[in-house]
Amino acid sequence: KAIYLKDYKVPAYLFESTDLRFELFEDEALVHAELVITRNPACTASAPALELHGHESVELVSLSLDGRALTDNDYVREGEMLTIATPPERFCLTSTTRIHPESNTALEGLYKSGGMFCTQCEAEGFRRITFFPDRPDVMSVFRTTVEADKTRYPELLSNGNPVARGLADNNRHWVTWEDPFPKPAYLFALVAGDLQHIEDRFVTMSGRNVTLKIFAEEKDLDKLDYAMTSLKNAMKWDEETYGREYDLDIYMIVAVDFFNMGAMENKGLNIFNTSCVLANAATTTDSGFQRVEAVVAHEYFHNWSGNRVTCRDWFQLSLKEGFTVFRDAEFSADMNSRTVKRVEDVSLLRTAQFAEDAGPMAHPIRPESFIEISNFYTLTIYEKGAEVVRMVRTLLGEALFRKGSDLYFERHDGQAVTTEDFILAMEDASGQDLSQFRAWYHQAGTPELHVSDQFDAAAGEYKLTVKQSCPPSPGQEKKSAFHIPLAMGLLNEKGEEVELPNGETTQILNVTEFEQTFIFSGLSTKPVPSLLRGFSAPVKLFYPYQRDELMFLMAHDSDGFCRWDAAQKLAVDIMQALIADYHPDKAMVLDGRLVSAFRSVLDAEGLDKAMVSKVLTLPSEAYLSELSDCVDVDAIDAVRKFVRHSIAVQLEDRLRAVYQENDLDIAYSPDADSVARRSLKNLCLSYLMSLETEASLQLAKAQYEKADNMTDMQVALVLVAHSSFRSDAKALLADFYQRWSGESLVVNLWLSIQASDPNEGALSRVLELMQHPAFDGKNPNKLRSVISVFCAQNSTHFHALDGSGYRFLADRIIELNSQNPQIAARMLTPLTRWKKFSAARQALMKAELERIRESGDLSKDVFEVVSKSLV
Ligand code: ARG
Ligand code: ZN
Repeated sequence: KAIYLKDYKVPAYLFESTDLRFELFEDEALVHAELVITRNPACTASAPALELHGHESVELVSLSLDGRALTDNDYVREGEMLTIATPPERFCLTSTTRIHPESNTALEGLYKSGGMFCTQCEAEGFRRITFFPDRPDVMSVFRTTVEADKTRYPELLSNGNPVARGLADNNRHWVTWEDPFPKPAYLFALVAGDLQHIEDRFVTMSGRNVTLKIFAEEKDLDKLDYAMTSLKNAMKWDEETYGREYDLDIYMIVAVDFFNMGAMENKGLNIFNTSCVLANAATTTDSGFQRVEAVVAHEYFHNWSGNRVTCRDWFQLSLKEGFTVFRDAEFSADMNSRTVKRVEDVSLLRTAQFAEDAGPMAHPIRPESFIEISNFYTLTIYEKGAEVVRMVRTLLGEALFRKGSDLYFERHDGQAVTTEDFILAMEDASGQDLSQFRAWYHQAGTPELHVSDQFDAAAGEYKLTVKQSCPPSPGQEKKSAFHIPLAMGLLNEKGEEVELPNGETTQILNVTEFEQTFIFSGLSTKPVPSLLRGFSAPVKLFYPYQRDELMFLMAHDSDGFCRWDAAQKLAVDIMQALIADYHPDKAMVLDGRLVSAFRSVLDAEGLDKAMVSKVLTLPSEAYLSELSDCVDVDAIDAVRKFVRHSIAVQLEDRLRAVYQENDLDIAYSPDADSVARRSLKNLCLSYLMSLETEASLQLAKAQYEKADNMTDMQVALVLVAHSSFRSDAKALLADFYQRWSGESLVVNLWLSIQASDPNEGALSRVLELMQHPAFDGKNPNKLRSVISVFCAQNSTHFHALDGSGYRFLADRIIELNSQNPQIAARMLTPLTRWKKFSAARQALMKAELERIRESGDLSKDVFEVVSKSLV
């Protein structure tokens, strides 16, 4: 059942042109395909068969070769393959298939989202539309005609430029689109619906005029401006930063409600989950705005890193995703606060990606095998993949990295290539040897660096010894040494940066051996090392910092990331000690240094407010869990509450003052400074609310009432809804729903807030929510807002010792398995981490995984995750 990278073979046939005609109806769709096919000279087989993919749900109505109708004897249809044994050297294959978008709940291929038709073909959805080689190394020039009812579907879209349109019988109309760029089938897209749009234009650096259109349902027309601004910023940024220019006359984005993932980079016609494109002040939080900016840019950047240069096979997925995430992260860093963006990305990596790397689905960024590729759209492929590209840039330096990316795009334009081609281009352009660095592509797991030091006062010599190791992962017991760029600096006793051998205050140590010692001379006192500056490699770094040294780094380190990291480490160290020592009847005592460190950060003048609020945010439950060998859910929860409460008690006056200082009466704007101010203000409010006093309740309620933006409103609502003031919680939640019941994305916030409410009775509230008219069990956004949020953000209830949380999730997976396998497999993640918990919880979680495994006809998606988790 598994597919292996080592089995890759070049395609036997090339597809010169692909002409598609879609007839869309309410109860079916007919797809007419005309394919011009020739033998691939690169394929050495003597008389190769033609192999086309076609999902079992596709009904083959007719098939002919050079005008001659084929019968059952001329081809074999078996599983997902249709094979024609010995076709001619060059021929035309025409087919008609019948499919059912109206009942397609998997949301792959052609399906209906609300009243509109749309597609999602990556990775292997095109085979649900028609018979075609559904592999990314087969690229073809597409011409697409869409025909549908004129009243229901006034807008008919596909890739490329519109070239013809007309009317047909029965109130129908059609439009033909031509995309001049050869592309794999996964980049195909079609949309038909009653859509409104906004329009703008962008003049590229060579003077090409590009029309930009963003489409949505009429009610969302007031939420498209931010995406348009972000798109233009991204187009400009890619020209300036990578020299990449857009290549068609038109660029379109369509917002759809039903979507399995975030968005899709189809050539010239991106399709977006509404949650990643719609934004306005009244309905969208600051993080929502930032997500829109990042995802719009991400999909745009794919036009080069993904579309012009695509993947040879799906094992190469990180070639386009890792690179594109790196590109969008740098874009967001340039548009907003660079350090804040870095802190956010590292937090995600350290909590969720490190957990994936340590779990049963661990895989290298270039996997060797998979059962279902949809399961590999992971944090590892995306986020760790981006970190690997970042390390390449760190090793090469900015200028040579740009030279390497220019060479990569130039050398491989129009091709389907591998991660090896990417690294080769980087090597060729820079003259650097990345042979050892390649281990990052084929070894899974998070490397660990254990750093120790020694100071010889007489010689003025400081020695840093770095040992690397990497725990085993499935199928990889022993690992070779990684090439790890370790950015570091040294601080003297006055907190000043020491000049290093390279003449600067930050140096990259090339860690290439299992154990290595680096020597620094000319020091009069023992320095404090600042390690892994900017998080220069996706590793876990251990150095036995004293708590006082961490406070020293918080105050003096010139690297913003390391200042934040020192605060995290201090909080983690203190909290871990409390967790280890936890007993429900035993009083806890908080090390006063955390409070004084936080106080100095609150008092300091001139700090970036966003960074202040990041520094003052306690490590998340998820991060503390990832750091535990055996997760003590209750201890983590209790310790976090205790620490937060203690800080609030001791800093109450300062928190209130900082809240007031930042509670300005000015119109909403999602710019970095305003976001920073709101985040600091709301952080203060959350500490104050942890006091559960009448005064803080009034403060939160007042903020809710006067808020002119969703950020302030949502934070106030969460704090009241999750508090012990139950009647206020109820009243505010009711008020919120009444105000926003017409805004689906805001309703999702409302659902999530309730699903993550830690008060007693959480599971029954979740079950009730699933009966609420606002819930729709077919819509992935609703499923995520309730089920995934409950499992990931309501840990004491999800991990209830009676097993009710686990049983609830397993029941949902069993239901979703047939309805939407991609979503089912994704939602399964929390159960796959069973080995991290106590014996009692392990047994309960494992039993639910086994129940899913025995529940009958499993999709490939769910089967792969369940079976790998039970090994
Ligand atoms: N290529 C898309 C993106 O990252 C994601 C598509 C994922 N689709 C899927 N079925 N897994 O922008
Ligand atoms: Zn992507």
